[in-house]
Amino acid sequence: MMSILPGRLGQSSMTTWRVRDFHDDDLDHVVRVWEESRKTGVDPVYGLAEVLAAIRNDGSAVVAVVGPVVVGATIARINGDRGWVVMLALADEWRGKGIGSAMLTDLESRLVHRGVHRLSALLPEGETGVEAFRNRGYRTRDLVYFERVVPLQPQEVGRLESLGGHVLPDGLWDALAGMAQEKTLIERRLVLPLADPDLAEEFGVRPPHAVVLFGPPGTGKTTFAKAVASRLGWPFVEVLPSRLAAEGPGLALALRDTFAEIAELEHAVVFIDEVEEIAAERGGRPPSPTQGVTNELLKSISGFRERDGRLLVCATNFVRALDPAFLRHGRFDYVIPIGPPDRTARAAIWRRYVPDTVLDLVDVEALVAASNLFTPADIEFAARKASQQALESSVYGTAGGVRGPTTADYLDAVGQTRSTLTEAMVADFTDDIERISRL
Ligand SMILES: Nc1ncnc2c1ncn2[C@@H]1O[C@H](COP(=O)(O)OP(=O)(O)OP(=O)(O)O)[C@@H](O)[C@H]1O
Ligand SMILES: [Mg+2]
Repeated sequence: MMSILPGRLGQSSMTTWRVRDFHDDDLDHVVRVWEESRKTGVDPVYGLAEVLAAIRNDGSAVVAVVGPVVVGATIARINGDRGWVVMLALADEWRGKGIGSAMLTDLESRLVHRGVHRLSALLPEGETGVEAFRNRGYRTRDLVYFERVVPLQPQEVGRLESLGGHVLPDGLWDALAGMAQEKTLIERRLVLPLADPDLAEEFGVRPPHAVVLFGPPGTGKTTFAKAVASRLGWPFVEVLPSRLAAEGPGLALALRDTFAEIAELEHAVVFIDEVEEIAAERGGRPPSPTQGVTNELLKSISGFRERDGRLLVCATNFVRALDPAFLRHGRFDYVIPIGPPDRTARAAIWRRYVPDTVLDLVDVEALVAASNLFTPADIEFAARKASQQALESSVYGTAGGVRGPTTADYLDAVGQTRSTLTEAMVADFTDDIERISRL
């Protein structure tokens, strides 16, 4: 249908433009206009896919033409009585001639005929079209525009589910208290090149593909692996040898299938805990039953390293039990110790678990001194115990009007908590750092 409303015929200095209905064979031209209008460097709210979907799904579209050439397009999608203008683009040399307003006018009348009586548009400031909307009397409203890009392609959702993986919440990295040394190292060696591979390439840095985290129990290896995933916005997939073993065809085969499935994910942090269980030293006679599994894991890691955008994190409490071939260069980029928290880290971890309401009243330094050889997990345990005891005495009446745990409650809970670490373990760990770590 050709429309006959005023304002659609225009005269520029030499050439006449007009606005008309969109025809199917305009599609290529519309795409070209859309792409050209993107060159201004402003990110549009609606992607091309959404614009094309609006055309396909019974939206409304008009184009501006000069002779046979399409120089502009305006497209809307209809939601009940609201029309959303998802594209208003014009070739550069035709800006400022009133064509944008003319297209809007025409589109509006079509939409009104289809029951629309409220028209909306979302544009970045500076985008083509802002002037056209203003000229047509559109009011701007002070709204906050929220957008979150889910780091998963739709086809990955099912795959991730079958792997038992998920996208972790933001903020786990910041929630990791203390451990400044480990955090700095991991931030620089892992997060930086993985988050900005182009920058890394500029400096000739190859982003890491696989790392080992080692350290005594409860020092935060799992927590670090998850924090890295959260920081990168990549899904987290834990490979559980115990679960794979229960799955029938044998652990080695299950491992291979799992890695084949992981290879289909665009991005992922893949975590294998207690890796010594499937990568212990080989060469015993007779060969240990896990030898086939170790070999499969080695093969899987080689395959895994072939594509960027994914990181394998293996964790272990017994790094010295690992097959030396397993740890070699070229297989793992770094072998990183996650140690018991030092005083600063313990203070930060205590502060994380002491409720804000009593934080000023509690002598954190005393807790730090009393919790030597405590892991973050031990501190968490003692802190929760103190909170529970304080809650009970407050409700059942032995506390003299004090709300919340006191220093004494905390020291009491520390006294009832057995530290995970011993001096001997710390000595072993220090020795492992010297012999095995690779930073
Ligand atoms: N830096 C930290 N700040 C706050 N809490 C922490 C920190 N590190 C660890 N935790 C807490 O301590 C507990 C144990 O941490 P995690 O499970 O990461 O240790 P791990 O090294 O993986 O232990 P394991 O060797 O037993 O697997 C978790 O509940 C975690 O929330
Ligand atoms: Mg763990």
